[in-house]
Amino acid sequence: MSATSPVRAVLPPDIRARKGQAPLVVLTAYTTPVARLVDAHCDMALVGDSVGMVLHGMPSTIGVTMEMMILHGRAVVRGLQKAMAVIDMPFGSYEESPQQAYRNAARLMAETGAPCVKLEGGAHMAETIAFLTKRGIPVQAHIGLTPQSVNTLGGYKVVGRDGEGDQVMEDALAVEAAGAFSVVLEKVPMGLAARITQRLSIPTIGIGAGVACDGQVLVVDDMLGFFTEFRPKFVKRYADLGSLASEAIADYAAEVRARQFPGDEHSFADVLKGKQS
Ligand code: KIV
Repeated sequence: MSATSPVRAVLPPDIRARKGQAPLVVLTAYTTPVARLVDAHCDMALVGDSVGMVLHGMPSTIGVTMEMMILHGRAVVRGLQKAMAVIDMPFGSYEESPQQAYRNAARLMAETGAPCVKLEGGAHMAETIAFLTKRGIPVQAHIGLTPQSVNTLGGYKVVGRDGEGDQVMEDALAVEAAGAFSVVLEKVPMGLAARITQRLSIPTIGIGAGVACDGQVLVVDDMLGFFTEFRPKFVKRYADLGSLASEAIADYAAEVRARQFPGDEHSFADVLKGKQS
């Protein structure tokens, strides 16, 4: 089955044109109800491969599949009216060759309706980014900490300190030259992120990269307090929905055990009287 791509209010060239204007607001979304909430307030909804860790309990993003991204991507696109969907290419779906990346990116777009993809990697992915963008696939790049490379990076560390800054700058310039319409900077020191933002003509979207970036992204379950396995320093909790949900579930369990729920108001009478249903 293939979903037709709706013409959306916001498309990658619009995002690119936002450089130097009001900050871009981005959150992840993996489901239709959350996409609807994000749509009301954000410029982009990122169907991140973080879905594997956040919703599926995976230990990293390595095991996320194309099928998972398509399923969640479709759900998110259904919930959006004005924000733009960005869909992550999962580990193993693009690194082998530009041709492999094209096949899988085209499938993600055709089967979800998202107008673009995001992929991890800097200078070494430039050839692939150029190949995709020349063939109608807008690409958001992702540099600095690239979680799919956790096994070669040796953990989720800050990238760009202690003389590594030149490489991150080089990556940023390479993805811009290759045609990326924006770039995510993850866990990059704020001074370096500010210099990259100043140097590039495409928007930088920071996550743990300081306030100077052209936009910010967070994992929605982190900022809502739903994902509590661990909490990176860059996450600000705007709500504690995890605790609220836990209290609600405890109340429900107690009421069921005490035979207080369901009450008459949640039950059906044997005889229909007046407007009662
Ligand atoms: O997968 C994801 O949610 C991401 C963001 C952290 C940028 O890539």
